[in-house]
Amino acid sequence: MPQLANETRNFSLFDRIASKSKSIVAERVPQSVSQLRQDAGEFWSDSRANSLVQEMAHWRGKGRFEDDSEWLAIGKKHFRFVTDFARYLGRRPQFDAVLEWGPGGGSNLFQLKNIATKLYGVDISPTTLKICEGEIGPATFVPALIDPARPESFKDHVKQNVDLFVTTAVIQHFPDKAYTEAMLCEVNNVLTADAMCLIQTRYGDGQKRIRQKKSLYKHAFLRFTTFGIEEFVNILENANYRTHYVKLEPRTCYAYYFCTKK
Ligand SMILES: C[S@@+](CC[C@H](N)C(=O)[O-])C[C@H]1O[C@@H](n2cnc3c(N)ncnc32)[C@H](O)[C@@H]1O
Repeated sequence: MPQLANETRNFSLFDRIASKSKSIVAERVPQSVSQLRQDAGEFWSDSRANSLVQEMAHWRGKGRFEDDSEWLAIGKKHFRFVTDFARYLGRRPQFDAVLEWGPGGGSNLFQLKNIATKLYGVDISPTTLKICEGEIGPATFVPALIDPARPESFKDHVKQNVDLFVTTAVIQHFPDKAYTEAMLCEVNNVLTADAMCLIQTRYGDGQKRIRQKKSLYKHAFLRFTTFGIEEFVNILENANYRTHYVKLEPRTCYAYYFCTKK
C-alpha cells in the first residue's frame, strides 16, 4: 500500500509541474534525441543542490522519505522479488556481484548487501553515488559514474562479471527507447552465464499520460519512456535475456521482468 500512496504523490507532483508550464507542454513539439539525452543528464546530475531531484533519486530522509519506512519499503520489496525469483529457479539467493543501474539513494542495495559480496552502482549523478556509498559502505560498494551520453562507459568501473542485475524506477526516466536497448545489450555482455535479472519499466496502458514522451524532459521525466509488455519482452529477447515471468502493478503501470541471461 505505501507504494501506491507514493505513486499517487508522484502523479500529482507531475501534474503540478505540468500545469505550471501548461502553455509550453501544450505545444509538444518533438525534440531531437540528443537534446533529450542532454536534458535528462542535466536533470539527474543536479542532485547536489536540488531537493526535488534528491527526492526523485530516492535519497534517504528527503521529501517523502523523511518517513524512513517508505525508503526501506522499496528495497525490502525488491529484495523479496529477487529471493522469490531465486526460489522459483531452484537456486540459493547468494551473489558474488550485483550491478544496479541507477541505484539512487541505495534503498535496493541496502537490502541486497545481505546476500552479495560486491555491489556496483551505475549512475549519472556523482552526488547521488556518494549518498548511496554512505548507506552501503565503501568496503562492498563500487560507484560507477558514467557519462549519460556513453552508457557503455560503466565497464571502466565494473571489472568482473555480475550474477545479479537490477534496475528499478530508472528506465521510465530514460530519454528514449533506443537508450534502453543499448543499456540492456551492454549490461548483458558482463553477465555470468547463469545471471539473474530484475528489470522494471512502466508499461503503456493506452492512457495519454503513460505514452512515450518526445519533448520537455524536465516537465515529463516521471513517465518519459514506456514500453508495451510484448514490445519489451521482444527487446529483452533481442538483447539476449530470457524472460521467465512478468509481474504487473496496474495502479502505477509498473512491469517487473524476471529474467536470466539466455
Ligand atoms: C528514481 S531513482 C531510482 C533509485 C532506485 N533504483 C530505487 O528503485 O529506489 C532514479 C536514479 O536513476 C539515475 N539515472 C537517471 N538516468 C540514468 C542513466 N541514464 N543511467 C544511470 N542512472 C540514471 C538517477 O540519477 C537516480 O539516481
